[in-house]
Amino acid sequence: MIDLALFVAFPYVAVILAIVVGLYRYYTDRFSYSSLSSQFLENRTLFWGSVPFHYGILVILLAHLLALLFPGLWSSLIGAQARLYVLEVTGLALALMAIVGMALLFIRRLNNQRVLMVTSTIDWIFLVVLLAQILLGFWVALFFRWGSDWYLHTAVPWLISLATLSPQAQYVSVLPFIVKLHMLGGFLIIALFPFTRLVHFVTFPITYFWRPYQVVIWNRRVRAGVEVKK
Ligand code: HEM
Repeated sequence: MIDLALFVAFPYVAVILAIVVGLYRYYTDRFSYSSLSSQFLENRTLFWGSVPFHYGILVILLAHLLALLFPGLWSSLIGAQARLYVLEVTGLALALMAIVGMALLFIRRLNNQRVLMVTSTIDWIFLVVLLAQILLGFWVALFFRWGSDWYLHTAVPWLISLATLSPQAQYVSVLPFIVKLHMLGGFLIIALFPFTRLVHFVTFPITYFWRPYQVVIWNRRVRAGVEVKK
């Protein structure tokens, strides 16, 4: 019963919540659809935290997705021992990068008075959940070898069963507690997504590629060689 609630009901509730609340927020409060940047308040630590965090976590999430969408390709990629080692070590290094980046972002929010003032309760909740999720992923990769292989025979069929509306919790309900916690953590993040700054994830400015050029015109009058600002 508990397995059904955690590995069937909870993922569906999380995804439905993300879509429904996400759309509602987009149409009723579009201005809030942003990471609400604090770059103007503090830039230096932000750079050293944000860059490693984003490069680390985005590549890792891309690997999660790649193995899910192309299990055959992933399986041949890890088929040779050397490639498996390289992949796992790269994953651990990227996870470390993300952890260091997150830690810096955490310290920045705590230590900088101006950034602290614009940090809400949900920001703190989300930061803690995200950090815990990344630490759990690192733990799983380090102590439950070889995740890039058993992921294909546990998480992938479970996620596919959910996506095809024929949920089968038994693929993951027998896994160790820490592994299950990491998997559920992914759906907790999806459930929290529409209530947080993470919504900026779906506002990647891809339209910049095809939008018309912006015409920028100086709004100054020049009089006898002297610029006069309006
Ligand atoms: C937003 C959600 C998620 C985040 C931020 C996240 C993050 C991470 C990180 C940082 C690692 C360590 C990577 C490494 O060192 O190789 C990891 C590993 C792992 N994650 Fe996730 N993860 C998420 C969701 C999920 C979900 C939903 C599943 C399964 C359904 C999953 C399954 C795994 C497995 C099996 C590993 C071990 C891979 C290995 O041993 O190389 N993750 N995750």
